[in-house]
Amino acid sequence: MVITSFKVLMFPWLAYGHISPNLELAKKLTDRGFSVYLCSTPVNLGFIKNKITAKHADSIHLVELHLPENPELPPRYHTTNGLPPHLMSTLKNALYKAKPNLSKIMEDLNPDLVIYDVVQTWTGKLTSDLNIPAVKFSTSSAAMMAYFCHMLMKRDEKFPYPAIYLSEIDYARARTVGESAKADAEELDPAEERPNRFCDKIVLVKSSKEIEEKYMDYLSEVANWKTMGVGTLFQSPVFGDEDENNELIQWLGTKNECSSVFVSFGSEYFLTKEEMEEVAFGLELSNVNFIWVVRFPAGEKIRPEDALPEGFLERVKGRGKIVEGWAAQAKILAHPSIGGFVCHCGWNSVVESVEFGVPIIAMPMHLDQPLNARLMVELGLAVEVMRNGEGKLEREVIAEVVKDVVVEKFGENARKNMVDVRQRIKQREDEELDEVVQLLNRLCEEKRQNEKSSS
Ligand SMILES: *[C@@H]1O[C@H](CO)[C@@H](O)[C@H](O)[C@H]1NC(C)=O
Repeated sequence: MVITSFKVLMFPWLAYGHISPNLELAKKLTDRGFSVYLCSTPVNLGFIKNKITAKHADSIHLVELHLPENPELPPRYHTTNGLPPHLMSTLKNALYKAKPNLSKIMEDLNPDLVIYDVVQTWTGKLTSDLNIPAVKFSTSSAAMMAYFCHMLMKRDEKFPYPAIYLSEIDYARARTVGESAKADAEELDPAEERPNRFCDKIVLVKSSKEIEEKYMDYLSEVANWKTMGVGTLFQSPVFGDEDENNELIQWLGTKNECSSVFVSFGSEYFLTKEEMEEVAFGLELSNVNFIWVVRFPAGEKIRPEDALPEGFLERVKGRGKIVEGWAAQAKILAHPSIGGFVCHCGWNSVVESVEFGVPIIAMPMHLDQPLNARLMVELGLAVEVMRNGEGKLEREVIAEVVKDVVVEKFGENARKNMVDVRQRIKQREDEELDEVVQLLNRLCEEKRQNEKSSS
């Protein structure tokens, strides 16, 4: 009898920040014997195609999901990458409406297991209808999930870990997000949210017990989901032959060790004009060298020099570089001249910072970012730029924190802590993954048993 390997279908949210950790998890699973089918829209699969090397070419398969046609949402917008913010809920809806196509994919493939994004709750019902075991996967921190689950289930009680909190203003912002998510969810038919009768009770988290054990345990308790870390899923980028950002790297080479900051707010957040100004003046006042990645929504023809304060580029000449759109973040963070990361605290960026031992100057914007930022502060790896009473960033505070991390003592300690944390995560990674793999294997075996006994 030929034993074919178990087939796992992975279905991430349509954001690069979700797809990329799914791909890394896929690599780890195929290294342990699974075949993985990674399902997303063609434009998103285009981003990752060249990240699959020969080693995984036979075990990781890309499956295209086509969304319904909509002139407002052409195929190049079937991703959150560069998506104009007002189209976000249109995209969510389009994905939901593609359910018949997803269902067809699942029926044809008949996977032994589905791993779906924790934000796509409706997938649970679909897999349950098709008798396919499924587990959720969260690409953000366990602290974030624990906090939001607590808010849903135990609203009247204080979150038991005071280091993790939302300020009133963060809360108002999170609530706006929460409310729009709820409105989306209602439009998406709440009856669809019934859990999978198999095993919706398991959530994998892109994290490690080394940094989040108590939050994983608390999430298991409060949501009644078995919570398991799969490691930080960071894959060392291959440096060398690619000549991306070489000019920047050379420029960094002319600066002193740990003398410069890398500034980026992720691929989905666009600074307001006001925020842009405060950040610019903050960097200027700090007197520290910097590389700042600025982004504008796709289709808006804004030149960075028009969005920045007048004369700014002239004044920071020689110590500041502006890059538009995209930069080789890992390559830059890995450079010895970088002494701090001015970061929105999206989880992938946080993990990358830990990987390269770069202390964080935390400037969270929305969603899970404030919670991730506070987790890093709790671990001694970040200083947060506190907002004023109106929730606004202030240039003097930005400058102060940048100097604190790059010039003063904090950075030195944080760098030591980073190295230590990173080592502990690495040491535990295989053990954590083995546990997950054992469980997934069992779910797949059960499914095959069921099929046998019912045929
Ligand atoms: C399913 O995919 C086809 C293309 O293969 C597309 O034309 C159609 O609109 C999709 N249907 C739904 C409901 O997403």
